[in-house]
Amino acid sequence: MPNPKSKAQETCTLTLPVRQGTVGPAVLDISKLYSEHGYFTYDPGYAVTASCESAITYIDGEKGILLYRGYPIEQLAEKSTFLEVAYLILNGELPTQSELDRFSDAIWHHTLINESLLRFFNGFHHDAHPMAMLTGVVGSLSAFYPDTQDFRDPTRQTLFSQRIIAKLPTIAAAAYKHSVGHPFVYPRNELGYANNLLHMLFALPTEEYTVNPVAAQALDLLFILHADHEQNASTSTVRLAGSSGTNPYAAITAGIGCLWGPAHGGANEAVINMLTEIQDVKNIPRYVARAKDKDDPFRLMGFGHRVYKNYDPRAKIIRSMTYKVLENLGHRPDPLLDLAMKLEEIALRDDYFIERKLYPNVDFYSGIIYRALGIPTSMFTVMFAIARSVGWVAHWCEMVNDPEQRLGRPRQLYIGPGRRDYVERSQRSGKS
Ligand code: CMC
Repeated sequence: MPNPKSKAQETCTLTLPVRQGTVGPAVLDISKLYSEHGYFTYDPGYAVTASCESAITYIDGEKGILLYRGYPIEQLAEKSTFLEVAYLILNGELPTQSELDRFSDAIWHHTLINESLLRFFNGFHHDAHPMAMLTGVVGSLSAFYPDTQDFRDPTRQTLFSQRIIAKLPTIAAAAYKHSVGHPFVYPRNELGYANNLLHMLFALPTEEYTVNPVAAQALDLLFILHADHEQNASTSTVRLAGSSGTNPYAAITAGIGCLWGPAHGGANEAVINMLTEIQDVKNIPRYVARAKDKDDPFRLMGFGHRVYKNYDPRAKIIRSMTYKVLENLGHRPDPLLDLAMKLEEIALRDDYFIERKLYPNVDFYSGIIYRALGIPTSMFTVMFAIARSVGWVAHWCEMVNDPEQRLGRPRQLYIGPGRRDYVERSQRSGKS
């Protein structure tokens, strides 16, 4: 029963403290708004709410800028590697060679998963979605590492971070192997991060498998682009879950569950499904019309972003590398790529998308590269989760070490009935 009063337009004038970050818009500090003025704030989807201070990632959505610890994503994509970026995101500075070697060794040290954990996969149907398996198995890590419950200890935080980053590829590959009925392939630490993942996904015990270095490089680059994105939905979920003091593996699992949704990380899978459904350039106008129709729930997947009101810088990098990767892998251009290019061109000329500043996002082109690497569509969001695990653990660590952070517990604008007395069953008239 909506309360029409909630629509009432009242205004009030308050003086509030302003906080300024290093770059970006200033922030109104409303932490004392209720205790001093008796107001909550209303902001569905937290579109203009800063829930924390963070020193990890900065986005300027108007200009299409993304910085990890101050470094532009374009420079990191061109010059760095995923493990170096992981070090940067976790520690705040680029590593020296010996720091990177030590960090990499620590990751290799944790790539195996407990054999009992491996047996969990037999409990899943062969057609279980890999994200469902990932959620179940990562959540179970808390049973294997109860020591992490004592998460105030910095050495335990480091151990937790390394385990998550090291084990996610192994768990992801096991989920894939289970879905195709192939034997599990153990990690080979000497191969490197992306290379080892591709080996675990595609090697068979029956023959030698050599990973194409172009494929490994492309995957490593996609992982750099997806590694963190400040307070996105899944990272905020990790922070919110973690704020209760839950086991950190459980907090990461909450993030994986959130990432799965098509408005977030599930969009890469949804883009390929959409392009497959559109099938032909001649059908594009019909789908664009559907996306604009308010009575149709259909949206152009891979388009639009809560923060970017300009071309997503990650999409720009992926778009420019896609042809190169396909060519270097010896693939003919994917017909879905041509379709995607045409769809982008038509949408970007359309007033609906121009007025709303809807541009292709990171997920619009990533699926086409994953396809070229032989990764099945259902595994796309799992790939995203592997990369984003770095951001999740970095934000979780930042949160638990931030003295200002407390239990995440939003308030609401209540619009249900006011207080009323219980009515005896025999006296109820029922709904009209
Ligand atoms: N197709 C058609 N219309 C759209 C789209 C779209 N993809 N995205 C937004 N709009 C419209 C929306 O209908 C609304 O129109 P109006 O003002 O007339 O009501 C306006 O644009 C603003 O949309 P919104 O839903 O208020 O914006 P939001 O910030 O809440 O949503 C979004 C952001 C990413 C959920 C949304 O753009 C979307 O659903 N995109 C498709 C899914 C997608 O590609 N998600 C991946 C995001 S990037 C990777 C990641 O975060 O993991």
